Amino acid sequence: MGYSYETLVNWDREHLWHPFTQMQGFREEELLLITRGEGVYLFDHLGRRYLDGVSSLWTNVHGHGRPEMDQAVRGQLELVAHSTLLGLAHPPAIVLARALAEVTPPGLTKVFYSDSGSTAVEVALKMAFQYWQLQGSPQKQRFLKLSGAYHGDTLGAVSVGGITLFHDIFRPLLFETLEAPAPYCYRCPQAED
Ligand SMILES: Cc1ncc(COP(=O)(O)O)c(C=O)c1O
Repeated sequence: MGYSYETLVNWDREHLWHPFTQMQGFREEELLLITRGEGVYLFDHLGRRYLDGVSSLWTNVHGHGRPEMDQAVRGQLELVAHSTLLGLAHPPAIVLARALAEVTPPGLTKVFYSDSGSTAVEVALKMAFQYWQLQGSPQKQRFLKLSGAYHGDTLGAVSVGGITLFHDIFRPLLFETLEAPAPYCYRCPQAED
């Protein structure tokens, strides 16, 4: 983008909060500046190569720079970058919904798009809640969650989450839930010594 590494480091320190990152310690480390990706690798501004072992936090399952995906994005940008689904439709949304319906289990025929993991959880919570309201059982309002769960950082997702370090401070803002143990027996509370 034409800015020097030093300028970007200064601007990063001045303006960016990095998620789930202890900023005090982070500021003292060398800033890892990713400028390019290819397949399973990321490259920094000096051309050093890193294995993207977390797949850009599980969002890049097909690898960086997949030609057919990049081409599809470029092709769409030449037509329109964004159009709402609120009262309108566009071909990619329809075609993807159809493709998803074909690979999901029988009976799951409708698609509602959301824009992140957390907002997808909000949508799911609201759909479940609204379902019982409209079915004539308005008293069904409680959610069961699994202990140790992580579903994202919006407040509904935090309400059904159970990671003390991330969630405890927000407890007063959350709705009540029932909690059941997760089927996960690494450091299992029920395990015998
Ligand atoms: C299991 C799970 N659910 C939900 C989320 C939240 O997704 P997002 O960061 O897209 O809001 C994450 C994110 O790490 C996740 O691991």
